[in-house]
Order: sequence, then structure tokens, then C-alpha cells
Amino acid sequence: MMIENLKKEKNAIILAHNYVRPEIQDIADFVGDSFELALKASKIDADLILFCGVDFMAETAAILNPDKKVLVPDIATCPLAQMLDTDSLLSYKRMYPDAKVVLYINTLARHKIYADAICTSSNALKIVNSMDSDKVLFGPDMNLARYVADRTSKEIIPVPKIGFCPTHYQITTEDLSIAVKKHPNAEIVVHPECTVDVQKKADAITSTSGMIRYCKESSKEEFLIGTEVGLIHRLKKDIPNKEFYPISEFSVCPSMKIHTLDKAENALKTEAIHVKIDEYIANKAIIPIKKMIELTKN
Ligand code: 13P
Repeated sequence: MMIENLKKEKNAIILAHNYVRPEIQDIADFVGDSFELALKASKIDADLILFCGVDFMAETAAILNPDKKVLVPDIATCPLAQMLDTDSLLSYKRMYPDAKVVLYINTLARHKIYADAICTSSNALKIVNSMDSDKVLFGPDMNLARYVADRTSKEIIPVPKIGFCPTHYQITTEDLSIAVKKHPNAEIVVHPECTVDVQKKADAITSTSGMIRYCKESSKEEFLIGTEVGLIHRLKKDIPNKEFYPISEFSVCPSMKIHTLDKAENALKTEAIHVKIDEYIANKAIIPIKKMIELTKN
């Protein structure tokens, strides 16, 4: 296979998020959730990284690997990361000077520089609880903010007030009722980017890889999955003896699906789309990213 030859020739590694097309997941060296990908990117032994995910993920890999080339098959923008704007972040920081700032990894590097720590859906509560302040500015996902707020004694201030992942936001309680009627014995497993109403009806709320672990360990045979449909491929591949159904078939992230095998091959061949981060931003953004890695290990 051409991609395999190019990988060897260029000493490249392919990293992919759980949401990308099945055929991309199948050629990747590592597939994971946002935290696993950041952790993997912090220990890469290759000259070149081809990152199949969305912009903030590839940026994180580039920040953690200043001496390596990070390529992407195509430009994939995370709409949630776009919902945070610099002016509101800075005005909230001015309004709450004593608050610590925890930003979701789904933010652009130019915003990560203002964070005390970055978090992902798998470690958000732990990171927030480890901040030495009673107030935490948290953004940009209001549903993850609410998930954390309901489980911590700290005051969580969502920044901006309204920020969400459109793919998770459109999964409704009506979709869930219909799915439950079809599969009454299934356990309900959802992502914390889902609305609070959907979260309330779930048996488990966790990150994408957390969902895989949960379904593996559960004694149940059937699961209703509330996240981007790309995860169903990984669930079926990793746990072939169980059944998985998306709560909504419309929960598709168009940005994650932009990468194709042809584009991946072309990226390795031409090295055309190279992720470049301004040195000043990279040097500042790496601090809260490393803080997250350090706090998650403890
Ligand atoms: P995780 O894979 O970390 O759960 O994140 C999913 C997601 O929604 C990325 O935007």
C-alpha cells in the first residue's frame, strides 16, 4: 500500500481521532480521544506526524513537537473552538481576576496561552479540582462546563456564555426516547458535550475512549451511543461481541469527515499542508498543555 511505503520512506506516524472515517482509523498508527492523542504526541519517535483530526488537535501535536513536521490531510476546523473569541476571554479574565482559567483542548493555540491548564473531556473534573482557586473560568463548551459544575465545589464560570459542539448539541432527548423504544435493554452512554437534558438520562457520561472502556467493562450487550458516529466503528472493531447504536444518525462532524485516504496519501507525498504555530504562541501554549499532562498523571 502506497501510504505504508510513504510512511516508511519518510519515517512518519499517523495519528487519528476516534471520529475520523473508518478507513482512516484503519491505517492510523494510533487512534484515540483528545487526551490520548495529546499524550501520544508528547512522546513521538518519528520525523513526521500526519494528524487526522481537527485543527486544535493538530496544533497541540505541533506545539508538543517543535522539531518535527506536523501535516494534515486537509484543513478541518472545529466549530466549537471557533466559538471562543479573544475579546470575551480577556474581558472575563478582567471581570474575575482571582479565577483560574481552564480551557478545553478544543481551543485554538492563540487562546490556550491564556489558560492555567488545558483539559479534555476525560480529565476536566480532575483538572478543575486541582486549581488553587474557588472560581474557575471554563470554556468554550457550556455542556462540559455544566457537567463539571455539577460535580465540583468550585464556582464554574462558562466562557463564553454560549459555546457548544453542534454535532453533540443536535442529539435530543426525543432522539433518545425513540432509540430507547427500539433498544429497551441498551445502556445509554453519552459524551459530556451533549446537552444537560441528554446527560441526565444517561447511564454513563465520558470521553470517546472512556466510552470504549465503559462498554468493554459493562455486563450489558447493547449500547446507545451519544456522540459523533465515527466512534461506532471503533466500538464495533474493539468490542465485536456487543451491539452499538447511535442515538442520532445525524451526529456527524463534517470537519472530522473531511479527511480521506487519497488526501492522507497526498499529504505524505507532497507535505503540502504543514501546521505552523507562531513561536511566541507555541512557547506559551505548551505550558498549560504540559500542566494538563502532569496533573492527569498524578
Ligand atoms: P474526546 O475524544 O476527547 O472525548 O473529544 C471528543 C470531541 O468532541 C472532540 O471535539
